[in-house]
Amino acid sequence: MIIHVTDQAGEKHELEGLEGWRVMEVIRDWGLNIKAECGGALSCATCHVYVDPDWLDAVGAPSDEEEDMLDSVGDVRSNSRLSCQILCSDALDGLKLTLAPSAA
Ligand code: FES
Repeated sequence: MIIHVTDQAGEKHELEGLEGWRVMEVIRDWGLNIKAECGGALSCATCHVYVDPDWLDAVGAPSDEEEDMLDSVGDVRSNSRLSCQILCSDALDGLKLTLAPSAA
């Protein structure tokens, strides 16, 4: 699957993701600007991304825990998600997202 990522500088990247991987892991392993301090344990919010509005339904709603964690960052928007909570799958092939300032 392919993930289209716009980084904090506005540069666009096309990343190849493997089924079952967390989207955060793909972004991190490709060397983009994402801290992901807790490694996907849902306790840092430094994997914060903005999901393209066209992809929000496919990605699905955040859990209560994810929403609580997002409340701790200042740059949250209605399409904010934590990328460690999104799993790569064929259904998300072509996913578009933007790295949030608070992920850097
Ligand atoms: Fe820490 Fe996603 S990596 S919440």
